[in-house]
Amino acid sequence: MTHGQSNPDTATAARKKLFIKTYGCQMNVYDSDRLAALLAQHGYATVPEAADADLVVLNTCHIREKAAEKVYSELGRLRALRDERRAATGRPMSLVVAGCVAQAEGPAMLERAPFVDIVVGPQTYHRLPELLARRAREDGGRIDTDFPIESKFDLLPQGTGETPISAFLTVQEGCDKFCTFCVVPYTRGAESSRPAAAIVAEARRLVEGGARELTLLGQNVNAYHGDGPDGRSWSLARLLHELAGIDRLERLRYTTSHPRDMTADLIEAHGTLPQLMPFLHLPVQSGSDRVLQAMNRGYGRDDYFRLVDALRTARPDIALSSDFITGFPGETEEDFEATVDLVERVGFAQAFSFKYSPRPGTPGAAMPKQVREAVRGERLARLQALLDAQATAFNETTLGRTLPVLFERPGRHPGQLVGRSPYLQAVHVTAPDELLGRLAEVTITDCHRHSLAGRLEPQAPAIASLRTAAQPEEIVA
Ligand code: SAH
Ligand code: SF4
Ligand code: F3S
Repeated sequence: MTHGQSNPDTATAARKKLFIKTYGCQMNVYDSDRLAALLAQHGYATVPEAADADLVVLNTCHIREKAAEKVYSELGRLRALRDERRAATGRPMSLVVAGCVAQAEGPAMLERAPFVDIVVGPQTYHRLPELLARRAREDGGRIDTDFPIESKFDLLPQGTGETPISAFLTVQEGCDKFCTFCVVPYTRGAESSRPAAAIVAEARRLVEGGARELTLLGQNVNAYHGDGPDGRSWSLARLLHELAGIDRLERLRYTTSHPRDMTADLIEAHGTLPQLMPFLHLPVQSGSDRVLQAMNRGYGRDDYFRLVDALRTARPDIALSSDFITGFPGETEEDFEATVDLVERVGFAQAFSFKYSPRPGTPGAAMPKQVREAVRGERLARLQALLDAQATAFNETTLGRTLPVLFERPGRHPGQLVGRSPYLQAVHVTAPDELLGRLAEVTITDCHRHSLAGRLEPQAPAIASLRTAAQPEEIVA
C-alpha cells in the first residue's frame, strides 16, 4: 500500500468487534443498547456472532435459578470458543459478565469461572471501558458492583444504529418493595427515577430518529417520581401527558407496573390520553390473600379486583396481562384454587407464569413449607392451560374487527409487514413498505396462537392522509 493512501478495509479491520448477548427483562435490552453505544465510542463495532468478537459481553438475569444457570453454561461454551479462536488466529477474546448475575454473585463468579475477564453490575456499565483498559494493563480491578452516586444515564450515550419504530426508554430503576421471592432489590438497588427533562429530551431524540411508539420502562415504572422542570415531583401520569405532546409520537406504553402504585391520575390517563394504549401488564402473582401477604405484595385479591374495575371504567376495552408464581412456600391447593378463581374472574389477554424458584438471600428461600418441585410444576401446567385458553379467546374477540396497526418491521414473506394492534398483538399484513412506521386500519382475518393476520383497509383515513402526504402534487392538481 502506498504511504498516505487511505484504505477503508484496513480502517474497518482496525475496529474492534463486540458481541453482546442479552438475557432477562426489557431493561437489560435497553442497557445493552446503551452499552453498545458507549463501546462504539471506544472503537467497537457490533457483530452478530460471538466467534468473530474481540469482546463478548453477557448481560445477565438473576430472577430465577434457570436464568442464572444458563449464564454458566454459556460461559463454558464461550471459553471453548475463545480457545479455538486463539489457536486458529492468535487473536484474544475478552469475556465480560454484566447485569444482575454479575451483581448478585460478584467475586463468587470469578471463583466459579476464573477465565472471565470482568464482572460488572447493572449500575456501573459506564465504567466498562476503564475496566477493560485496566485489565489490559493487568492492574487489577476485575469486579465493579458498586451502586455509585453518579448516574449511568448521565454517562452512557444514546443507542446505536437505527432507532426502532417501537423503542424502549428507561425512566425508573431499582425497587424498594422487597417481595419475599425477588432478587431485584438486591441486584438493581434502591428505587430511583430519572429527571423528567432528561426523559423528554431522550424521547424527542428517539422520535427524531424514527420511533413512533415508546415503552417507558422501570422495575416499578408506576412508582416513577422524577424531578420535574417546574421544580415539582412528577408522577408517571404527568410524564405521560408531557410525552403525549411530542409531535409524531403515536403511541405510549409502560411496563412493569405494580398494583400498589396504580394511582388515580394514572388510571384516569388511560381514559383521557389517546396515545396511551389500552393494554396493561399488571402482575398479581397470586389470587390468595395469605400467599400475597407472605410474598409482601402489599395488596389483597379484592384490591386487585377493585383496580381492574377502575381501569375498565376508565378505559372499557383495556386488555390486561399479568405475572403469576405457582408453589410459593406455604401455598396450599386451596390457595392455588384462589389464583385460578382470580384468573377466571379477571380474564387476561396475555400472561407469564413461573414455578417458584427459591433465590439465595431472599426471605422466601428460608421459609418453612417449601412446596415440592413436582407440585409447583403441576400447578403451573394447570394455570398455563387456563391462561393459554384465555389468550386465545382474547385474540378471537378481535376477529373481524378493524384496528389501527402500527407497522414495525418487514414480515418473513415478501410484501408482508408486521405491526402491533393497540392490544400489543402482532399482526401480519400484506402491505407496502411505505407503511413502515405508520398507523393503518387493518381488519383482522385470522387468529393464530401468538399472532394475528389481517387485511389492509384501503379506505381508512390513515391511508388517505398518507397518500396525500406522499403525493402533494395530486392536491395541487
Ligand atoms: N417488578 C415486577 C416484577 C419483576 S420480575 C412486579 O413487581 O410485578 C418479573 C416476574 O418474575 C415477576 O412478576 C414474578 O412473577 C417472576 N419472579 C420473580 N422472582 C421469582 C422467583 N423467585 N421465582 C419465580 N418467579 C419469579
Ligand atoms: Fe421484585 Fe417485588 Fe420489586 Fe417487582 S415489586 S421488582 S417483584 S421486589
Ligand atoms: Fe432479570 Fe435483572 Fe431484569 S434479574 S428480570 S435482568 S432486573
